[in-house]
Amino acid sequence: MSINAGLFGQFESLTFDDVLVVPGWSDVLPADVDTTASVAGMTLRVPLMSAAMDTVTEAPLAIALAREGGLGILHRNLSVEAQATEVDRVKRAQAGMISRPVSLGPDATLADAEAVMASHKISGVPICDDTGRLVGILTNRDVRFCGPDDDGAPVTKFMTSENLVTAPVGTDLDEAVEILHRHRIEKLPLVDDHGVLKGLITVKDIVKRVEKPLSTLDDAGRLRVGAAVGVTDTAERTEALAAAGVDVLVIDTAHGHTRGVVDAVRTIKKGWPEVTVIGGNVVTREGVDALAEAGADVVKVGVGAGSICTTRIVAGAGMPQMTAIHECAVAAREHSVGGKPLPIIADGGVVTSGDIVKAFVAGADAVMLGNALAGCDEAPGDLELVDGAMWKTYRGMGSAGAMRGRASDRYGSAQNQGKHVAEGVEARVRYAGPLHELVSQLVGGLRSGMGYAGAGNLAELREETRLTRITGAGLRESHPHDVDVLRD
Ligand code: XMP
Repeated sequence: MSINAGLFGQFESLTFDDVLVVPGWSDVLPADVDTTASVAGMTLRVPLMSAAMDTVTEAPLAIALAREGGLGILHRNLSVEAQATEVDRVKRAQAGMISRPVSLGPDATLADAEAVMASHKISGVPICDDTGRLVGILTNRDVRFCGPDDDGAPVTKFMTSENLVTAPVGTDLDEAVEILHRHRIEKLPLVDDHGVLKGLITVKDIVKRVEKPLSTLDDAGRLRVGAAVGVTDTAERTEALAAAGVDVLVIDTAHGHTRGVVDAVRTIKKGWPEVTVIGGNVVTREGVDALAEAGADVVKVGVGAGSICTTRIVAGAGMPQMTAIHECAVAAREHSVGGKPLPIIADGGVVTSGDIVKAFVAGADAVMLGNALAGCDEAPGDLELVDGAMWKTYRGMGSAGAMRGRASDRYGSAQNQGKHVAEGVEARVRYAGPLHELVSQLVGGLRSGMGYAGAGNLAELREETRLTRITGAGLRESHPHDVDVLRD
C-alpha cells in the first residue's frame, strides 16, 4: 500500500500539474541529499535517462549524459550498423583501461601512423611485432618535428623503444597514476609476462574520470549506454548492439502490453541473458505484470504523455502520467529482479524539475527526458534563429518526418497495412546551452524538492512523501501571477 493510494484510488487519473508535493518535516539540506538510483544493477548518480529519439540521443548526448551520472538511450532511426557504431563511439569515449588498443606493426610508415592517429583521434600508438610483443610506442612528441619527407619512413625510426615504461596486466588506476607521474609520460602500455601488449592506460582517460566523478561507468571504466530496439528487428539489432558493448536495451514501442513486446523481451532474455532489458511502454498493472513475467529487468511507463505526442488525440488512448506511474510502481513492487523490486522508468511529460520530483514521489526509479534535453548543445541538429531567439528541432518518433526513417513500427504500422498514421508532431524547443548546465539545473530542482519533502534519498522520496491534489486556482497560484515577469 502506498502513502498516496487514497489520492490515486479515485475514478479520475492525474498528471503532474494536478498535484503538489506536501512539504514535510525536514532535517536534510538539498546539498546533502543522495540522488543515486539503482536500476537493474546499474548505479545512476543522476537518475535521468535521455529519450531514444532522433532529435535527442546520439553518441554526443549519450556521452555527455553518462559523464554527468545519467544514461543515454540511442535512438533506432538508423541502420543496425550505424546504431552499433554510435554504441561503439560511446564505449570508446573514455576508458579505465583500453583493453584492445589500436596498434601498428614495425613495418608501418609514419604516414600510416599519422592516418591511424587522426582517424581514431588518438595522440599515440603502440608498435608491436607479429607475435603481439610491444617493441615501442610512437606519440605526437616523437613526430613533432617530422616533415613530409619522413612520411615513407618506418615508424621504428621515430618511436620510443629504449627505456620503454610498461606495467604488468592487473595494474590498477592508482598505481598507473603513480607510474605516469613518476616518468612524466602520458601513456602506459600494459604487457603480460612475454611482453605482449594487453592494454593501455592514458592520462587523458584518467583526467576525464577525475573531472567527472559521478560518471556512469561499466566495470571496465567505460561510459555506460543504452540503445533502442524494435519488435520487428529485435534479434538482428540486439546481436549488433550487444557485440558493440551496449549495456542496456530498450524495447521501444508506444504500446508495450502486446504480444510483440512480450515476445521481444523473451527473445532478448533467451539469446542475450547478460543484457539488461527495459520493456515498454505500459501504463497499467496488467502491463507491468506481462512484461515482468516475460523477463523484463525494468519497465518503462507512459502512453501519450510526451510533449510531442498526439497518441491521445489520434487514438483516444493513454493515461495521465502521475496515475500511470503510481499504478505501475505499485504493481512493480510485487515483482523482483535480483532480489530487489522491479524498477520503473517514468517516460514522457516531464518538462520541469518539479515534474521530476513528482515522478519519484509517484513511484519512479528513474525519469526519461525528451523535451527537457532536446534543446541542449549535444542533441542532434543545428540551431535555428527565429524572431531573435535560438531554437532546436524536436520531433516525435511517431511524427510523419521521423516515420519516413525506420521508426514506423513503434506506432503499429504493421497492423495498419503499412499506412503510417502520425502520432506525434514535428516541433522545436528553445536552445538550452550545454547539457552539463541543464542537468545541474534539473538536479538542483530535484535536490530542492527532496529538501521540501524531507527525503535524504530517492527511496525516502518515493516511500514517505505525500502528494496533494490541486485545483485550477491552485495551479494558477503555483506559477508567477499578478505580475509582469521581466526575467524568467
Ligand atoms: P517528453 O515529454 O520528454 O516525452 O517530450 C518523450 C517521450 O515521448 C514518447 N514519444 C512519443 N509519443 N508520439 C507519442 O505518442 C510520438 O511521436 C512520440 N515520440 C516519442 C517517448 O516515450 C519519449 O521518450
